[in-house]
Amino acid sequence: MTRIYNVLPLALSVVALSAAFIAPGPKAPKRPKTITYAVDVAPIINRSCVACHHDGAVAPFSLVGYDNAKKWANNIASITQTRVMPPWKAVHGFGEFKDDRQLSDQEIALLQKWSDDGAPRGDRKKEPKSPAFTSAWPLGEPDLVLKPDKPFHVDAEGDDVYRNFVMKNTFDHPVWVKAMAIRPGDPKVVHHVITFIDSYGAAKKLEDANHDGQEGYSTSGGGVGFMPSGTLGGWAPGNATHETPEGIAYLIKPGSTLVIQVHYHKTGKPEDDLTQCGLYFAKEPITKQMQLNWIFNFGINIPAGDKAHEESRVRTVPEDVTIYSAMPHMHLLGRSMKAQVEFADGTVKPLVWVNDWDFRWQISYVLKEPMHVPKGSKIRVEAVYDNSAGNPLNPNRPPKTVTWGEQTTDEMFLLIVGYTADHQDIAAAQS
Ligand code: HEC
Repeated sequence: MTRIYNVLPLALSVVALSAAFIAPGPKAPKRPKTITYAVDVAPIINRSCVACHHDGAVAPFSLVGYDNAKKWANNIASITQTRVMPPWKAVHGFGEFKDDRQLSDQEIALLQKWSDDGAPRGDRKKEPKSPAFTSAWPLGEPDLVLKPDKPFHVDAEGDDVYRNFVMKNTFDHPVWVKAMAIRPGDPKVVHHVITFIDSYGAAKKLEDANHDGQEGYSTSGGGVGFMPSGTLGGWAPGNATHETPEGIAYLIKPGSTLVIQVHYHKTGKPEDDLTQCGLYFAKEPITKQMQLNWIFNFGINIPAGDKAHEESRVRTVPEDVTIYSAMPHMHLLGRSMKAQVEFADGTVKPLVWVNDWDFRWQISYVLKEPMHVPKGSKIRVEAVYDNSAGNPLNPNRPPKTVTWGEQTTDEMFLLIVGYTADHQDIAAAQS
């Protein structure tokens, strides 16, 4: 995947920030405080970086511990200035989210100063303990790991592939899932993963009808080829794994099979991938089912050359719900997606706003406080696309009109909202 960042405005802000530091002003204190790893830097890196930057995780190198941080001090300073890292695209102040990794301007300046001063360690006794990563899985060993029998071979070149792997085990009782984690086998080719629930054996039939010599079956256009009974959600780089709140879980109904759909993006080299899916089961009584509502706009039509084409979609909430998360999804032309909830009394509350969309970071933003939304409220989603030649990510040269589609070169308008229905009480319904 090419990495093209919007360099100019970033470079300008770097200049502005470093200027703020270099110019001490007439009343600067005589001995400025030394910025040290132990006191100042370790807490930032531990909070915002090491979840991805540890051995075996998605990032290419570890930032755990002083030696690693020092080795990368220069790069840490420059990449945080440009706000490429940590990947976190939600506009600050528009909604509040769990494990917000974003750095403040002050923290970024501090990392720069630390690097400029030669990355001093400081007092080791004051160093916070580095988080331990004892399992290759984000929440420890899952209760159940599902995976294809054999690695899938991805050719060097050609269109993206949507491969649907049909898991062998069928659940014979209702299974309540607190969290689903994905471990891509080869992160270079795995663009994203979505898990679908099939309660009717349809996926198995599609697999049986496929004779291309590899496990699973492909779908063009990214559907799964059948009407899924549900989903446990998806995964893409940058997506943290969260457990559902107490008493709430995703449901897999008896007789269902999971289908793991992997979207492969070709790299120019042949690759083999074996992506695994880990499930964490509920240990507590469950009263509510976590559900996903997909707010999409299939009708998008983005004219060639338009630098700021707007699309929108309004969904009226059909019952009282509580919203837990929101995940915007667009492709390469997407620049901004803003979602807010409009209440009957005219109040408007922010859900999420990504105003510097980067398709590589498909993050599901989990609300710090779940939002209660009464029936009749409206969720308004607005997106902006840049289909001009000036968009360095525009896959069409010259630009051409782009509509909804599954290829990376097509576009999407999708917001996936995690919610529970307020009236639901599973325990009562079963007694
Ligand atoms: C959500 C996962 C994630 C988090 C959190 C994260 N990184 Fe990264 N980082 C990555 C991945 C993946 C790459 C390789 C991406 C690429 O090649 O574009 C990377 C690459 C980098 C690079 C090398 C960039 C380059 O141009 O080669 C640096 C430096 C870096 N990260 C620093 C940081 C720092 C500092 C933080 C915390 C402030 C951080 N990262 C947080 C996933 C993450």
